[in-house]
Amino acid sequence: MKIRVLLINLLLLTLFSPLPANGKERVLNILYTGSLQGELEPCGCSPKIDIGGVARLSGYLKENRKGLSPYLLIDAGNFSGDDTPQGRLKTETLLRAYGIIGYDAVAFREREAALPEDFLSQVSKQNKIRVIIDSPHYTKSLLTSRDKVNINIGTNTDGHEKGRLNILLSDAPLSDVEKGIKEWDVIILSSGEELEGPLKSNGTIIVSGSLKGKKLGILTLQLDKSGNIRNYRHRWLPLGSDIKEDPVVRGILNDYDSRVARLFQEDTALAAETDYLGAQKCAECHQPYAESWKKTRHAAAFAHLEQTGKSLDPECVGCHSTGFGETGGFHNIKSTPGLADVQCEECHGAGRGHLADPEKPLRPVKESVCLKCHTKDRSPDFNYPVYLEKIKH
Ligand code: HEC
Ligand code: HEC
Ligand code: HEC
Ligand code: HEC
Repeated sequence: MKIRVLLINLLLLTLFSPLPANGKERVLNILYTGSLQGELEPCGCSPKIDIGGVARLSGYLKENRKGLSPYLLIDAGNFSGDDTPQGRLKTETLLRAYGIIGYDAVAFREREAALPEDFLSQVSKQNKIRVIIDSPHYTKSLLTSRDKVNINIGTNTDGHEKGRLNILLSDAPLSDVEKGIKEWDVIILSSGEELEGPLKSNGTIIVSGSLKGKKLGILTLQLDKSGNIRNYRHRWLPLGSDIKEDPVVRGILNDYDSRVARLFQEDTALAAETDYLGAQKCAECHQPYAESWKKTRHAAAFAHLEQTGKSLDPECVGCHSTGFGETGGFHNIKSTPGLADVQCEECHGAGRGHLADPEKPLRPVKESVCLKCHTKDRSPDFNYPVYLEKIKH
């Protein structure tokens, strides 16, 4: 046991002791992201999950550029959104942000391969993104240098170069990478697999981008004068609300919000007949229940979206309104103002049939009703008895 503790202490010492940068030895910071999967910023549904976002990333780098230099900023791929109109807006917005943040290299991997090539190449060019991919239209690998260290960044496992610091960007599963890939100094993964810290395998340092960009990875290499890695350490920088956003990138995110809103407004198919009555109607016969509901956060759920500028984003509205996406449910605040917020009918079910015959029972309210919205992602503290107590009436 004692030996084990000693070993762990030694390990911690080597990992966290400051690395001296004397005349012969150089330090290089590799700042990396990977597997953003279209995440522009956290939803803010709960303080616990309020972490991540490119505006904070940019803000952090602006304030700390000097202290981090010399550095390379790399995205290992799988950053883009889905191949839907909104997903493409996300991809475009991320690339605009990456251009401003000044990424040195951005890999295109599986998620990017699923998008139309002309769309991606146009947006990348517009934003002067240095794309790395194994395809004739792009750079196969990026040769660059920092502080006289020659560097090669590539995505093809056979593309390492002698005499350079070789960095591979891959989205292969960790198990394959550990088994099969040699001769690279550093591998940055974008497979979405989360590693607590770097792994060392076959002499290669393996790190993996934080899923959905919650944290920036900072791998600090200590190099000898020929560019060989002598030592390294690693830390995660969680992008929490304590980090000031870059107003320029915030502007791009706000622009995204208004473009999403336009996209959403174009789609105006509205049902004439509706199964939803709205809380106001229920209140006519159930005044005390309506009064107690008004005191819950459910009754302000839409106002909270409006405060964050997201009231026209279908990825948010669904859980902050009533019957969204269903015939006769909430559409937008202009066309269906009576169905904003999480109303009675989200829990009790649509009320048209009940109005015709109040004796007809509504659906029982069970935990599964809540879980439609109180998911792990959005409501990490959800606990049925505790939450039920707060909304009981
Ligand atoms: C799957 C359902 C769901 C989606 C989608 C969703 N939310 Fe929420 N949101 C919730 C729930 C549930 C809560 C309450 C969480 C809790 O307190 O446990 C919440 C709370 C919030 C709050 C209040 C936070 C506070 O403490 O004041 C805001 C603001 C918010 N969400 C914004 C958003 C935005 C912006 C989006 C879209 C990017 C979004 N939500 C998408 C379910 C959702
Ligand atoms: C249609 C989606 C939806 C359903 C269904 C839903 N909620 Fe919520 N709930 C929300 C949203 C959104 C919020 C956050 C509102 C805000 O503050 O903006 C919330 C907030 C809450 C809060 C306040 C949290 C706090 O810490 O103050 C409680 C409690 C809660 N819900 C309990 C429940 C329970 C219990 C159920 C099931 C019986 C349920 N909810 C069903 C969407 C939903
Ligand atoms: C977050 C979920 C939720 C919302 C929103 C909600 N209720 Fe309820 N309601 C419940 C739960 C849970 C119960 C108690 C369990 C049950 O009877 O199914 C209940 C009970 C009731 C009852 C009594 C049922 C009985 O058997 O005595 C009435 C009436 C009622 N609610 C009306 C409303 C009205 C009207 C609104 C809107 C103004 C509303 N509720 C909003 C969850 C909700
Ligand atoms: C015209 C008056 C009226 C309106 C409007 C009305 N109700 Fe009722 N509701 C009643 C009456 C009367 C009962 C009692 C029936 C009984 O005791 O069997 C009842 C019972 C209920 C119950 C408890 C019994 C059950 O079915 O679980 C719930 C929950 C409920 N209503 C919810 C709602 C909701 C939600 C709305 C709005 C969508 C609504 N009611 C609108 C008259 C109304």
